[in-house]
Amino acid sequence: MTKFYLTTPLYYVNDVPHIGHAYTTIAADVLARFKRNQGFDVRFLTGTDEHGQKVWKAAEAAGKTPQQFVDEIVGRFQSAWQTLGITYDDFIRTTEPRHEKAVQAIFGRLLKQGDIYKGEYEGWYCVPCETFWAEGELREDMEGRKLCPDCGRPTDLLKEETYYFKLSKYQEKILKHLETHPESVQPVSRRNEVYQFVKQGLKDLSITRTAFPWGVVVPDDPKHVVYVWFDALINYISAIGYPDSPDFKKWWPADVHLMGKEIVRFHAVIWPAMLMALDLPLPKKVFGHGWWTVEGQKMSKSKGNVVDPLALAAKYGVEPVRYFILREVPFGVDGDFSMNSFIKRFNADLANDLGNLLSRTLTMVEKYFQGQVPSSKGHEDKEMTELIARIPADVAAAMEQLAFSDALGAIWQLISSANVYIEKQAPWSLAKKGETEKLAVVLSTLVQALKVAADNLTPFMPATAKQILTQLNPGGEKVAKGDPLFPRIEQ
Ligand code: ME8
Ligand code: MG
Repeated sequence: MTKFYLTTPLYYVNDVPHIGHAYTTIAADVLARFKRNQGFDVRFLTGTDEHGQKVWKAAEAAGKTPQQFVDEIVGRFQSAWQTLGITYDDFIRTTEPRHEKAVQAIFGRLLKQGDIYKGEYEGWYCVPCETFWAEGELREDMEGRKLCPDCGRPTDLLKEETYYFKLSKYQEKILKHLETHPESVQPVSRRNEVYQFVKQGLKDLSITRTAFPWGVVVPDDPKHVVYVWFDALINYISAIGYPDSPDFKKWWPADVHLMGKEIVRFHAVIWPAMLMALDLPLPKKVFGHGWWTVEGQKMSKSKGNVVDPLALAAKYGVEPVRYFILREVPFGVDGDFSMNSFIKRFNADLANDLGNLLSRTLTMVEKYFQGQVPSSKGHEDKEMTELIARIPADVAAAMEQLAFSDALGAIWQLISSANVYIEKQAPWSLAKKGETEKLAVVLSTLVQALKVAADNLTPFMPATAKQILTQLNPGGEKVAKGDPLFPRIEQ
């Protein structure tokens, strides 16, 4: 069996999960389920990034010790993923001994081989982004405050003893890799950005902090803790047993690291350089998807517009949420979440197109064939049969590109065509005219279309797909019409 190792980012536990975290994690889950169905030996890793100044500050603000604080929030992530049907194989926390040990071992090795050296850092730091910035990279506001070019918030001036990682040493190797493996960073716009960034020149990276105590302690120099990004990136190998476990050899390199576009640079520059320093192969693909805004606005706690995926799922169902976020926006592009567009898609795609197709088909099988799915007896409708046969390949081709929206689009092409087919064939008048043979072809075709739609929908909406298949009861005696799949949302 071919292995397939995929990961999400490790989310900061300074706050509870929101729709953005759910987005990446659901996408990863759909891909994991799809690959398992294809027969791959899949390992799907997610987890939490628990160190660093941001989490430390959040714990302080909550009046808790960092450990207490992270232990509470991590539970919120795990239960959210359970509710949303996430089938991860492993959940790693960066505070676990298995991870801290790997970070310390790597730090020690790179220090010994000269890829890490001691110095002093003087420059700017954005705590919300946990990013070091040089003077020239910053924006300035009217009061002369230095703002983070990524998030726009004020940065802090740091002057600390630090250990550096020799990032600059890997500049040419990284450029070469991007040239020879252009598919390793996607979409191509992200790859080009990374390429330009590296081309401008890489500076060595400060990788320890001394201003606060919350991180992996530097071996033999305990006033330093490891910089949270240097720490967290290592999860992708610590979780699979780096360096000695046979599992490590089995799973590494990762087949795909999924993430939002804002952290592609860490994964496509710093992470490969770390792996090069360790003489390890590089991940096959880093994919940076787009960002969700909410009703046209950047999502933020202060704006009070953060979308809670659990509240949405409690009200409208888990699977409509999974469907909506992967259907609404092509993966890789920014998108906007609005209740209006959610309800529109729910009613149009789920209640109408899919729900009605199933209920009309089953009603007619019951009415005209006493619930027994008829056979088409070799008189297949050519056009529909060809479409039905083509859909799985179309879905697979889209999934290969991580084009989740196109994969769903292909399934809905089948569903819509089946609805049009009903209108055109008008089974009710075939019944009236006593054209039983033709009627049998039409209904058997519709059942077949629904079966293929449900099979292909399985990774996206597993419970819905199962419900459809149960009602169709393929191979069984009779269909078993149930409650409507998705009752319309009335506004
Ligand atoms: O960056 N739209 O963690 P984080 C789409 N700990 N995706 C979004 C989103 C939005 N509005 N908001 C968040 C970190 N995401 C680091 C990662 S990895 C070794 C360390 C998703 O909690 C998206 O996947 O800030 C983004 O990359 C991630 O959450 C950032 O999560
Ligand atoms: Mg972030």
